[in-house]
Amino acid sequence: MTDEKTSINDARRKRFEKNPIKGTKFTIAISSAKGGVGKSTFATNLALALKNLNLKIGLLDADIYGPSLPKLFAINQKPENKEGKLIPVNKYNIQCMSMGFLTEEQTPMIWRGPMVTSAIKTFAQKVEWKDLDFIIVDMPPGTGDTQLTFAQEIKMDGVIIVSTPQELALQDVKRGIAMFDKLNVNIIGLVDNMSFFLGDDGKKYRIFGEGGVKRTSEEFKKKFLGEIPINSEVGKFGDLGKPIVQSMPDHEISKIYANFAEQVKSIYL
Ligand SMILES: Nc1ncnc2c1ncn2[C@@H]1O[C@H](COP(=O)(O)OP(=O)(O)O)[C@@H](O)[C@H]1O
Ligand SMILES: [Mg+2]
Repeated sequence: MTDEKTSINDARRKRFEKNPIKGTKFTIAISSAKGGVGKSTFATNLALALKNLNLKIGLLDADIYGPSLPKLFAINQKPENKEGKLIPVNKYNIQCMSMGFLTEEQTPMIWRGPMVTSAIKTFAQKVEWKDLDFIIVDMPPGTGDTQLTFAQEIKMDGVIIVSTPQELALQDVKRGIAMFDKLNVNIIGLVDNMSFFLGDDGKKYRIFGEGGVKRTSEEFKKKFLGEIPINSEVGKFGDLGKPIVQSMPDHEISKIYANFAEQVKSIYL
């Protein structure tokens, strides 16, 4: 190879070299190509379930346009700024950071491109996480520029893709899988959220269709991590700012999350 080619390749590699987040052993992203499938609900409850395994956990709400963590964890505190670094807000013994801590709730999120990029860089490099086993990153929905920038700026050790069983959601999931594969981010597996409703008669009602997420994981040779039923208590406790895993650790849904947490732990630790 010519010298010129070598240096072009070096420059290219540098550009795509990702910096790991400091202060954590592993960074796990929670992604879904679509919004409203329960990604933030999953990210918060998984973080709490991992904490219950005596691990030290951080939670980065990376949804810049629609942050959820202030509401889901009832945080209305601004993070301290120490020597140019943001100190995460501690809640439920989890180190938390969100764009929502930095802006007023009412402020419309009309960010221009460069501002979004700089926000992502701040999250990746200027937050003082401390001695964590895992940071769980609640990714913004979609496979657009923001996700690309995230995936390029933040070195992720794995990603969990959350979907609901509708065909429309699955189409986007396939795009998401393609994106992470292309970026060489390890896909831990797929989760089927709101997969069925358990009736009083004990029957499972598959309101949004049957087995689509599992089929998609088989099609793309990814692991299927499990299903979470539709349960109104999930939304209720989220709205109260104390997710179900924290409020009702023995609830059937909390047990499902404990299983996801065990799966994640056993892969990395
Ligand atoms: N398993 C579930 N059962 C019932 N409601 C759920 C479940 N998972 C999520 N929800 C509800 O769905 C809505 C969207 O969830 P959210 O986590 O905000 O999605 P996303 O982050 O993907 O946009 C919320 O009102 C949440 O409470
Ligand atoms: Mg969300």
